[in-house]
Amino acid sequence: MQGVIDGVTYEIPQHVAVIMDGNGRWAKKRLMPRGFGHRQGGKALEQACEDIWHLGVKYFTVYAFSTENWKRSVEEVTGIMNILRNYLKTAAERCNRENMRMRVIGDRQVLDADIQSEILRVEEATKANTGLQFTVAINYGGRDEIRRAMTRIAKEVEEGSLRAEEITDQVIAAHLDTWELPDPDLLIRTSGEERISNFLLWQLAYSEFYFTDVLWPDFDRKCFIDAIRYYNSRDRRYGGVKGEKKK
Ligand code: FPP
Repeated sequence: MQGVIDGVTYEIPQHVAVIMDGNGRWAKKRLMPRGFGHRQGGKALEQACEDIWHLGVKYFTVYAFSTENWKRSVEEVTGIMNILRNYLKTAAERCNRENMRMRVIGDRQVLDADIQSEILRVEEATKANTGLQFTVAINYGGRDEIRRAMTRIAKEVEEGSLRAEEITDQVIAAHLDTWELPDPDLLIRTSGEERISNFLLWQLAYSEFYFTDVLWPDFDRKCFIDAIRYYNSRDRRYGGVKGEKKK
């Protein structure tokens, strides 16, 4: 869909996914502990939801905590979980004010019980909202998501409700945590790293990738516009040839 940003018409990506990287380095540059960077990252995320919606994006998915992030120190993991806890406390109210729907993807079963129930509460309270469709990946790993989907599909085959020949791309997508979301059009990774680190492995098959040196806490509206401008310079062909239609 097209949109006008600061007087210029752009093709606006429907779904933007972000790997919010660089919180630790942002804090280190200020001689502060890593947790300070994560707190600032959380604030940047709240602002990002507002900015991206006003830029015309409908779906926004962010990587907040990966299945690999448990390897970090107990102090850092606890700090990130507490940011999430605090965020969830006021999330339903804030989302409802903005008509925003919030979902969580990832394996939530190992999260603390209070976080799990808060997630359910926010998802339930915002499910009718038609504004920004905001998804947070927590204890999320792309391989883990595919493995969990495969287990469910295998069970359906075992039980006889699905035949092996019926397993199509659509059936697999429908068993992923993202079953309700379109695939991302644009993936942004901040802080200079150029890899996808187990994020949305299935869903990013045809997405455009935008890498920037900006650290996540500094990523603002102007940075999103730079990313959209980059997206507009790309020529998406989904494996076909531009201008050619199959006879
Ligand atoms: C990566 O930076 C960032 C994370 C692993 C955590 C991101 C979490 C937040 C922004 C908290 C907000 C979450 C919610 C839902 C409110 P890094 O620590 O790898 O940075 P570095 O590469 O500079 O060390």
